[in-house]
Amino acid sequence: MDTVLQHLNSQQQAALDELFEFLRIPSVSADSAFLPDMQRCADFVLQSMSTAGLTAEIIPTKGHPIVYGERIEDASLPTVLVYGHYDVQPPDPLELWTTPPFEPQIRDGRIYARGATDDKGQVFTHLKSIQAWVEKTGRLPVNVKFLIEGEEEVGSDNLDRFLADNKERLKADVAVISDTSQYGDGIPSITYGLRGIVAAEVRLTGPSKDLHSGVFGGSVANPINAIARLCGSLVDEAGSVQIPGFYDDVIELSDKEKQEFVRLPFSEDTFLAETGSGAVFGEAGYSTLERRWVRPTCDINGIVGGYTGEGPKTIVPSKATAKVTCRLVPGQNPKKILTALESFLRERCPPGLTFEFLTFHGCEAFVFDPNSEWINAASAALQAAFGSPPVFIREGGSIPVVSSFQQILGIDTLLLGWGRNTDDLHSPNEHFHVADFHNGILASAHLWQKLADVQR
Ligand code: BES
Ligand code: ZN
Repeated sequence: MDTVLQHLNSQQQAALDELFEFLRIPSVSADSAFLPDMQRCADFVLQSMSTAGLTAEIIPTKGHPIVYGERIEDASLPTVLVYGHYDVQPPDPLELWTTPPFEPQIRDGRIYARGATDDKGQVFTHLKSIQAWVEKTGRLPVNVKFLIEGEEEVGSDNLDRFLADNKERLKADVAVISDTSQYGDGIPSITYGLRGIVAAEVRLTGPSKDLHSGVFGGSVANPINAIARLCGSLVDEAGSVQIPGFYDDVIELSDKEKQEFVRLPFSEDTFLAETGSGAVFGEAGYSTLERRWVRPTCDINGIVGGYTGEGPKTIVPSKATAKVTCRLVPGQNPKKILTALESFLRERCPPGLTFEFLTFHGCEAFVFDPNSEWINAASAALQAAFGSPPVFIREGGSIPVVSSFQQILGIDTLLLGWGRNTDDLHSPNEHFHVADFHNGILASAHLWQKLADVQR
């Protein structure tokens, strides 16, 4: 172990240089203009797996390729399935980046680039720790299987098929994912719950073309007026979602967990400063952490239509579109929520407008028992690398594969995030602290040994 750690400490710059290469590839899964880069990025991951000592291959899917690699040391050892994603969110709006999103740069001890924290930097920590173990000791303390996909940011649509078709090959005792955040500065964390999600788009069409609003306004339905009303009716002033049945299946937080949340350090002022918001807002009767982690939500993500250029333009627009997502909590069924959302909007759509409802990805929420031997092992690894014991938290984001691992492969996941929610993931100027990258590599190196010691 010591030689592995020493080696990693001496290889910090080399690891950064390689990560930079990874970050230079604009692997934006949502936009087909980046298709060749997705393939190039999969090739890079394949190469990094081979360098780390894994036997790896690229597996095509209906969408972007999966990269799979494994190193099986001995059938008697525990097997760990490591998941991550090489795709990134679109970098827009480009003009808000201090340096271009795909030209990584270190400033103030942070690596700035799209994908730095979500999720390339975090994926890389595991590859580098494996490589060090193999180079320095010729073996790993556990068997590892790496599944790095290219469609997480667009909902992992083709992943369940792959899991179902490869159950035997993917057989493992536990999964590890580093794609979440630490609770705060100097507070490493283990996440034991995530929210689920459903995503949809509503399209309203009125007149067959934009019309003069003086000549025709007030005599035919205006799709933007209508979509604004529809969107506005989803959540009331007290932050409560108005879709009938929305809260029916929600599993309420236990008093014990409620108390545990209260014990976590939380400053509203810091939270407001971090989000750049003027005030907190959310469902009445719940704390900010509860609103973020364990309450379901409904958010409009985008709304477009009509004229939005400079100066006025007097029209009744022909079309309006809105994108909507609901975050889900344990108990809620994604299909049921989507159906309820659609009926709610369809019933309220004024006559004379065409209503279209498109659905995208969806996944269930996830929560597991934070008292397992695997968790204890992970906890010891984090403590060894970050210097303080982790806190146990839930998170509001979604990682679709986690519930699929539970349902299809029957395994739990250790969510060990080295990032921070202040890393501007999905925002301009995304970054990853160099120290988190390095400590993440060390924690990962410890993790393999600690997991090997678990009594099964
Ligand atoms: N890494 C995030 C999820 C995350 C971030 C969880 C921070 C907890 C803390 C992941 O890449 C992501 O953004 N997922 C999407 C999933 C969706 C597209 C299905 C999300 O949550 O919006
Ligand atoms: Zn991610």
